[in-house]
Amino acid sequence: MKICCIGAGYVGGPTMAMIAHQCHDITVTVVDVNETRIAAWNSDTLPIHEPGLDDIVKGRRGQNLFFDTNVDKAILEGDIIFICVGTPTKTFGVGAGRAADLRYIETCARRIASIATTDKIIVEKSTIPVRTANSIKRILKAGNAQASFEVLSNPEFLAEGTAIEDLTEPDRVLIGGECDDSVEKLASIYARWIPRERVLTTNLWSSELSKLTANAFLAQRISSINAISALCEATNAEVDEVAHAIGTDSRIGPKFLKASVGFGGSCFQKDILNLVYLCEHYGLQEVADYWEQVVKMNDYQKRRFYERIVGTMFNTVSSKTIAIWGFAFKKDTDDTRESAAIAVCQNLLGEQAQLNIFDPQVSKERIFEDLGSIANDDNVHICQSAEEAASGAHAIAILTEWDTFAEQDFAKIYDYMPKPAFFFDGRNISDLEKLREIGFEAYGVGQGRPPAV
Ligand code: UDX
Ligand code: ADP
Repeated sequence: MKICCIGAGYVGGPTMAMIAHQCHDITVTVVDVNETRIAAWNSDTLPIHEPGLDDIVKGRRGQNLFFDTNVDKAILEGDIIFICVGTPTKTFGVGAGRAADLRYIETCARRIASIATTDKIIVEKSTIPVRTANSIKRILKAGNAQASFEVLSNPEFLAEGTAIEDLTEPDRVLIGGECDDSVEKLASIYARWIPRERVLTTNLWSSELSKLTANAFLAQRISSINAISALCEATNAEVDEVAHAIGTDSRIGPKFLKASVGFGGSCFQKDILNLVYLCEHYGLQEVADYWEQVVKMNDYQKRRFYERIVGTMFNTVSSKTIAIWGFAFKKDTDDTRESAAIAVCQNLLGEQAQLNIFDPQVSKERIFEDLGSIANDDNVHICQSAEEAASGAHAIAILTEWDTFAEQDFAKIYDYMPKPAFFFDGRNISDLEKLREIGFEAYGVGQGRPPAV
């Protein structure tokens, strides 16, 4: 069997590497129009940082796992074609700022339709609006009449930073489709390493909608605990204690209750806005408003964090240096898409602060590109360590929960900083009491105020 995957990103790369790793008899070719990305997949330095990925890729590359720019050849040869291209939020025209931009999906469907000569199973892995399979089917039907196509929905639930664990032992694999034989063919691939009862099959539309719904529910939990974090700060309750107290109720559960500076990542905001757009499209305004509030709460949380920094530092950060620890949207990834760090840093730069930014994985180029025109070599300095970033800074702000940020020599760092030395932990990974004993004026998210000096 031959598998072709179009799109060598954060989803396509790891997912296909896992299939190749688990099924040595299947030839997996991942193609992308981005030559630099493909060259990186074929090099010693992979284009994405994901724990455990290197070993898997290097173990199978050149044997049954290939990365190539020849999209047409891989389509022609593939029995199953996974579509793993991006579906960003539309920035123009109808649905701008909400609807998914499906141009990359459509391009793939048109390409497949125009060159395929044999029957194929087309698998949507990218997150897409409900009923996209219909559009794909129509495009495929309008193309080459020689071949016939079955379209399946097989959304990917991996989270970045834990992709390999998630792919090795997923809670479930979801396959939606209308043709039992095709569904079974795909299910039997996953069943090689995943217990069969965890491979769920549904109709196409349920599968497509389940992906959006899962992300909306996860993001909703974060916005809910973040909303409570604001109340904790006003009342001196501790949000982590509240989260633990409610999370021990088995009906609520302990996961995804970590208050933070705000959720980021390529999926949550995009998928909720997509859901909102769909609801509006079907005339369900109340449902749309309900879900949109999750995103609004997240924007509020990011704004609140930055305003707390400014408010605490005597209402001005102009010309003050702030050490930014972490820029990725979560730990163990180099991905910065929708990272809360972007909005917080842009706002601080708008207040004329100087930023010393350190992230263990994000490149200087990425940071400058994300911050846009407000950042320049005079107000943003990229540092090589957390300690270097803090040296001479008036405040430290933790924006990503990298483990290393909780393991610093804080007494030494304190000595390097002008006083009062402020500490804002946007991820609640630090021992604030210890920091206060050293002398820091330390704040966490949803953790009330430090005792008056
Ligand atoms: C998410 C879904 O978890 C995954 O199933 C889907 O396939 C893609 O979207 P991802 O965005 O990679 O995965 O990471 P996730 O671990 O969900 O974190 C998303 C954001 O929420 C991060 O910014 C993270 O820091 C934040 N978060 C997560 C919190 O602020 N608090 C939490 O308790 C959990
Ligand atoms: P995700 O996080 O969903 O994996 P990415 O943006 O990381 O999204 O990856 C999507 C990839 O799909 C990009 O590398 C992009 O170049 C690739 N891509 C988009 N359109 C096409 C296409 N028509 N043919 C081949 N690759 C494509």
